Amino acid sequence: MKKILFVTSEAHPFIKTGGLADVSGSLPKALAELSQDIKIIIPRYQDIKTFGDIHYRCSLRVDNRDVNILETQMPDSRVTVWLIDYPEFYHQPGNPYVDAQGNPWPNNAERFSLLCRIAVEVAMNRAHLNWKADVVHCNDWQSGLVPALLSLEYDRPASVFTIHNMAYQGLFPTSVLTSLNLPGQLWHPEGLEFHNMLSFIKGGLVYADRITTVSPTYALEIQTAAYGYGLEGLLIHRNEYLGGIINGIDLDQWNPETDAYIAHHYSRASLGDKQHNKAELQRRMALPVDNNIPVLGLIGRLVEQKGIDLIIACLPELLAMPVQFVLLGNGDKSFEQRLQNLTHVYPTKIAVSIGYDEGLAHLIEGGADMFLMPSRFEPCGLNQMYSQRYGTIPIVRKTGGLADTVVDSTPETIANHTATGIIFNDANASALMEAIKRALLLYNLGDVWADIQKNAMAADFSWQQSAKQYIELYQNIQR
Ligand code: ADP
Ligand code: GLC
Repeated sequence: MKKILFVTSEAHPFIKTGGLADVSGSLPKALAELSQDIKIIIPRYQDIKTFGDIHYRCSLRVDNRDVNILETQMPDSRVTVWLIDYPEFYHQPGNPYVDAQGNPWPNNAERFSLLCRIAVEVAMNRAHLNWKADVVHCNDWQSGLVPALLSLEYDRPASVFTIHNMAYQGLFPTSVLTSLNLPGQLWHPEGLEFHNMLSFIKGGLVYADRITTVSPTYALEIQTAAYGYGLEGLLIHRNEYLGGIINGIDLDQWNPETDAYIAHHYSRASLGDKQHNKAELQRRMALPVDNNIPVLGLIGRLVEQKGIDLIIACLPELLAMPVQFVLLGNGDKSFEQRLQNLTHVYPTKIAVSIGYDEGLAHLIEGGADMFLMPSRFEPCGLNQMYSQRYGTIPIVRKTGGLADTVVDSTPETIANHTATGIIFNDANASALMEAIKRALLLYNLGDVWADIQKNAMAADFSWQQSAKQYIELYQNIQR
C-alpha cells in the first residue's frame, strides 16, 4: 500500500473544464479500490461544488501567505480531498484558468505556484496533517513545480508527472520570478527556463522521477517535433523514464443502463430503445424529430486541437446530405461565432449549444448515432470511449488515444466482430468527409451497424488495468 498525494487543478464532480477532471475524479477512486491510501489536493475555487461534510484541517504559512486546508470526501469513495483555501487567489468566479472573455487570470503563475508549494509541504508532512506521501502524482503544468521543488528536499517522496496535454505549458515572463521566489538552483536552461521564459511543465519533465502520458501513441508522438512543442528533445533525453498509460472511464457515471441524465435506459440487448433518446435530443435541440435521419454529435472544448475548423469546412457538403449535426461546446470566440452563424443557414440540420452542460453531454452520447472527434492531436480523449459505451459510433482521426481505443471498421474487423468505429488518417476536411461517408454507408446497412454498436458497447474501458499499471509504476520507482 502506497501513500499517494494526487495534485490536480480540476477534479469531477468538484470542478471541471475537460478530461483532466474526469481522470482526477475516477483514477484516484480506482486506486483506492486497489487499497492505496490516496489523497487529492486541489485549490478551493469559488465555484467548486462540495458534497456532504467539509471541515477545517490545518493552517500553514508558505511564502508569507496564511493558507487553510479543508477536508472533504470524493462522493461514493474512500478518497480524501484536501482543499487549499486561499480566497485572495482562488475566489475568481467561473473557470479555474481564464476569465469570461477567455483571457488567463493575470496571477496564474502565483495561483498555481501556491498549489505546488502547498502540495510539497503536505507531501513532506510539514502541514500538521500527520501524513507523509510515498509518491506525489502531479498532473499537467499547474502542478509542474512540485517535482522541481521536491528535488531539493532530503528524504523526499517519489514524483510522477502525467502529461494530459503538451499544448498547455504554463509559460510566464521572467518578471514573475521575483514574486514566485523560486530557488535559484532551478533557474537555468536545463531547469525551469525555456527560451527565457519560466516553464511550469518543464518542472515536471526535467525533475519528475517518472513521466507518463495518457496513451501509448501520444507517448511516442510527443517525442517528435510535430507534437512536442520544442520539448521533444528533452522527452527523448528522458525517454527511459517516460511511458503511456491509457485512461479509463468512470463506468458508473457513463452507463446507458443507469445514466441519471437520460430518460430512456438501454443496453446491448435493448439497443432499439436508444431511439427514444434520439427523439429527445432532436426535440431538445429543436431539430425535426425523425429516427431515419442519422444524428452526428460533438462535445468538446472549441479549440484548434479538436479539429473544429475541419468540421466547419465539411459542413456545406455534409449538410447537403440527409443528416443532422448537434454540437455542444465552448472555447474560442471565433469558432463559437462561426458555428452559431451556420445554424442560421441550416436551421433544420445543425443545432449548436454554446456553453458547458453536463446533462446535455449525456443526452448527446445517449441520443446521437455517431460522434465526431477529428482531433489534430488527442493525448487520450474520453468522449470516444463514452460514445462506444453508448453505442454511438465514433469517427476519429488516427492520433494519440483515439488510435489506441477505436478499432476501424474494415471488411475484416466487421467480419470478426472487433470493429468499433471509423478511423481516418489525414488532418484535412476531405479525409474527414470521406470517413463520414463511410460511416453513413454502414449506417444504412442496419444489421452491420447494429453489430458495430454492440462491439463498441462491449469494449472494456474500465480503470482496472490502467490503475494497476500506475501502482506498478509507483512501486518500481528507483532513485
Ligand atoms: P479534453 O480534456 O481535451 O477537453 P477529453 O475528451 O479528454 O478532452 O474530455 C473532455 C471532457 O469534458 C468530457 O467528459 C466531455 O464530455 C466534457 N466536456 C467538454 N466540453 C463540454 C461541454 N461544453 N459541456 C459538457 N461537457 C463537456
Ligand atoms: C487532456 C487531453 C485529453 C485527455 C485528457 C485527460 O485534456 O486533451 O485528450 O483525455 O487530458 O487525460
